[in-house]
Amino acid sequence: MQFLSFLLTAAAWVSTVSAHFSITYPYWRGDSFPTQWTYPCGGVNQSVSDTNRTAWPLDGGSLVFKPSHPNAQTFVNLGLGGNVTRLNITLVPTFNQTGNGTFCFKKLTLPSGLDIQEGTNASIQVIQLSENGGALYNCADITFKKDAAGPPDGMCVNSTGVGASAFAFASSGNQGNSSKNGNESTCKSGASKTTVGMLSAVGLFAAGLALF
Ligand SMILES: *[C@@H]1O[C@H](CO)[C@@H](O)[C@H](O)[C@H]1NC(C)=O
Ligand SMILES: *[C@@H]1O[C@H](CO)[C@@H](O)[C@H](O)[C@H]1NC(C)=O
Ligand SMILES: *[C@@H]1O[C@H](CO)[C@@H](O)[C@H](O)[C@H]1NC(C)=O
Ligand SMILES: *[C@@H]1O[C@H](CO)[C@@H](O)[C@H](O)[C@H]1NC(C)=O
Ligand SMILES: *[C@@H]1O[C@H](CO)[C@@H](O)[C@H](O)[C@H]1NC(C)=O
Ligand SMILES: *[C@@H]1O[C@H](CO)[C@@H](O)[C@H](O)[C@H]1NC(C)=O
Ligand SMILES: *[C@@H]1O[C@H](CO)[C@@H](O)[C@H](O)[C@H]1NC(C)=O
Ligand SMILES: *[C@@H]1O[C@H](CO)[C@@H](O)[C@H](O)[C@H]1NC(C)=O
Ligand SMILES: *[C@@H]1O[C@H](CO)[C@@H](O)[C@H](O)[C@H]1NC(C)=O
Ligand SMILES: *[C@@H]1O[C@H](CO)[C@@H](O)[C@H](O)[C@H]1NC(C)=O
Repeated sequence: MQFLSFLLTAAAWVSTVSAHFSITYPYWRGDSFPTQWTYPCGGVNQSVSDTNRTAWPLDGGSLVFKPSHPNAQTFVNLGLGGNVTRLNITLVPTFNQTGNGTFCFKKLTLPSGLDIQEGTNASIQVIQLSENGGALYNCADITFKKDAAGPPDGMCVNSTGVGASAFAFASSGNQGNSSKNGNESTCKSGASKTTVGMLSAVGLFAAGLALF
């Protein structure tokens, strides 16, 4: 019993100390470090940021986060509404985020057909799956506004050694090959051409994607 509680404490310590991440723009819902593995928003009650939403442009804006592990399979999703529990709109298809520091997408674009207007509330969710399979969640609560200011100068940067890399899922040696004419059956995870195209569009290496 004592040993079990030691293990649980150790597991919690490892999760909070060695593998946390934060969203710095739009400002995150709140400090999730103690509960970051909790779906969907790292265990922080939405009421925490209900009066502190960041204005975000109507056609999408910047996202800055601070990862802390060598690499993590990363997802960026959106959920529309004031207190979202289903963040089911993909903003960035899964990618392999590498490096420890600051990571920024200057301008995330929105899928077409969303009913977004001046004042629409939404939440952005970032999920990071670490190498050992641990899933970490954070959300940032936003209000779509046409006059949204964007992050302060100098905030949207990738620090040295921080970026994205191809997934190593495929064993064919074809990793990092974004050729649309490639033989997709060599990609074990079965990335679709659409996803490859979307990833290319946001400037990432496109290969070996996993669609979850
Ligand atoms: C979240 O905060 C609201 C408003 O303060 C409260 O009513 C609700 O019980 C909280 N939910 C959880 C899961 O803590
Ligand atoms: C948001 O929804 C959750 C789950 O339905 C609920 O527990 C919580 O009280 C809601 N928070 C607010 C601020 O309405
Ligand atoms: C968006 O959220 C803000 C802050 O909670 C609230 O005052 C506003 O009424 C919400 N807007 C809509 C359209 O629900
Ligand atoms: C509200 O958001 C700003 C950044 O937009 C942040 O500096 C501030 O700490 C937040 N306030 C609270 C109470 O979380
Ligand atoms: C990430 O970098 C910071 C600052 O250099 C360092 O303190 C921290 O230990 C690093 N984290 C990991 C998991 O390497
Ligand atoms: C996302 O979930 C909402 C609420 O359940 C639903 O209305 C909407 O159609 C879903 N959108 C997508 C793209 O699945
Ligand atoms: C950071 O790296 C990602 C992945 O390579 C790239 O998409 C993004 O544009 C970079 N951000 C900046 C500010 O250069
Ligand atoms: C992500 O990229 C790093 C560095 O290239 C690599 O070591 C790691 O295996 C990749 N992660 C996955 C899940 O493919
Ligand atoms: C990428 O794939 C194409 C088509 O299979 C192939 O012709 C090309 O040589 C590959 N490039 C690299 C760098 O592997
Ligand atoms: C794709 O690769 C598979 C397995 O190596 C092979 O059987 C198939 O003929 C290839 N298809 C094309 C169009 O090259």
